[in-house]
Amino acid sequence: MTKILFVCLGNICRSPSAQAIFEDLLIPRNLTDDVQVDSAGTADYHVGEPPCAIMQRVAAERGIEMGHLRARQLTLADFDHFDHLYAMDRSNLRTMQRMAPPRHQHKLKLFLSAAPELGPDVPDPYYGGIQQARQVMDIIEEGAEALLQELLKSDICP
Ligand code: 4NP
Repeated sequence: MTKILFVCLGNICRSPSAQAIFEDLLIPRNLTDDVQVDSAGTADYHVGEPPCAIMQRVAAERGIEMGHLRARQLTLADFDHFDHLYAMDRSNLRTMQRMAPPRHQHKLKLFLSAAPELGPDVPDPYYGGIQQARQVMDIIEEGAEALLQELLKSDICP
């Protein structure tokens, strides 16, 4: 079992979208029992809230439901539990690098590390409109596919 965590600031826009999209990629490949996926925020502003309405709408346009997800804050236990922790941007990566003990630093990466031509950062869609939300979801979809391909080459062993 490979355990991966997506991390943004609020855990209501980018990282729950990455979680829902990545989980959706696992289904046709019969990998849902081999990979555990979760998401969290470095901040506590929105703990307990569902994903933001605009990203839920854009996800639904693509056949992905994520209204059941609830925001939570990243904890120290996450660095023990997960094998790979993917920051949606460099700012959150820096926060994670400050939090994580030295033995877990190697687990911390940028979400777009497997698709560097799209990055380095997934833009924050929180204050944007529907067009920006769609662009952000395009980036997340491409980044998630690239990440899955990278993981398949290394440590997902179905
Ligand atoms: P996220 O977006 O980090 O992708 O969930 C944001 C959500 C909330 C805020 C900022 C970004 N905020 O400032 O409350």
